[in-house]
Amino acid sequence: ATKPILKDKKVLISAGGTREQIDPVRFIGNRSSGKMGIALANEAANAGAEVTLVVGQITVLLPTHPQIKIIHIESTNDLFKTISNEFTQTDILIMAAAVADFEPETVATQKIKKSADNDEFLLKLKKTPDILKTVGATKKDQLVVGFAAETQGLLANAQKKLIKKNADLIIANNVATPGIGFASDDNQVTLLERDQDPKQLPKMTKNELAAHLIKLIATKIN
Ligand code: PMT
Repeated sequence: ATKPILKDKKVLISAGGTREQIDPVRFIGNRSSGKMGIALANEAANAGAEVTLVVGQITVLLPTHPQIKIIHIESTNDLFKTISNEFTQTDILIMAAAVADFEPETVATQKIKKSADNDEFLLKLKKTPDILKTVGATKKDQLVVGFAAETQGLLANAQKKLIKKNADLIIANNVATPGIGFASDDNQVTLLERDQDPKQLPKMTKNELAAHLIKLIATKIN
């Protein structure tokens, strides 16, 4: 059995992908399966935490652990509202969800149609709120953990996210490498903490990584 290293701690975790609506039948999404965030939720619950799991689009089953409360969201704005509401009662926030950086400027009320004289259709996008950055800025004695999903400049970009989002830990994954990152069962990450050299971890399953991360997070909060 797992040691109760997070007993009585309130942990807020996001998992899965957001969907930004284009019209009544279409959306902008991403390849997140929810596996990484759900593995973290299970591990935190097994460690005695009271977990709130905020899930977007996922391709796997939801966890059934009695200590995990589930809230469903669709868009980045939904996720922003939910995370903002829950954060004040949270000891640890872990943002594993894959969040859209842009959403359609307007949502068409009817299905967008093609016509004989239109060979192009332009979709105008606007920035979504940066949830981690906004919530991270209000942090008191809470622990704020984010991921960095990069296809280039992994360490430099992840280091920027650590500072800009006022995070205590950033888990950087190179999502261009086959077999890790989005949708796979395995991940290979580098951990970035304040005032410490980056720590590269070997490739392991997302469940093994979740166990490693929950242990690290427990030492940081206690
Ligand atoms: O779900 P899986 O298939 O298991 O895949 C796991 C994963 C690859 C999705 C996960 O490991 C991961 O990297 N999640 C973060 C994806 C992401 O949105 O990365 P980012 O570098 O764009 O964002 C950095 C951090 O800010 C993330 O913690 C993200 O949740 C958060 N963010 C991003 C945009 C935004 N508007 N608000 C945010 O809070």
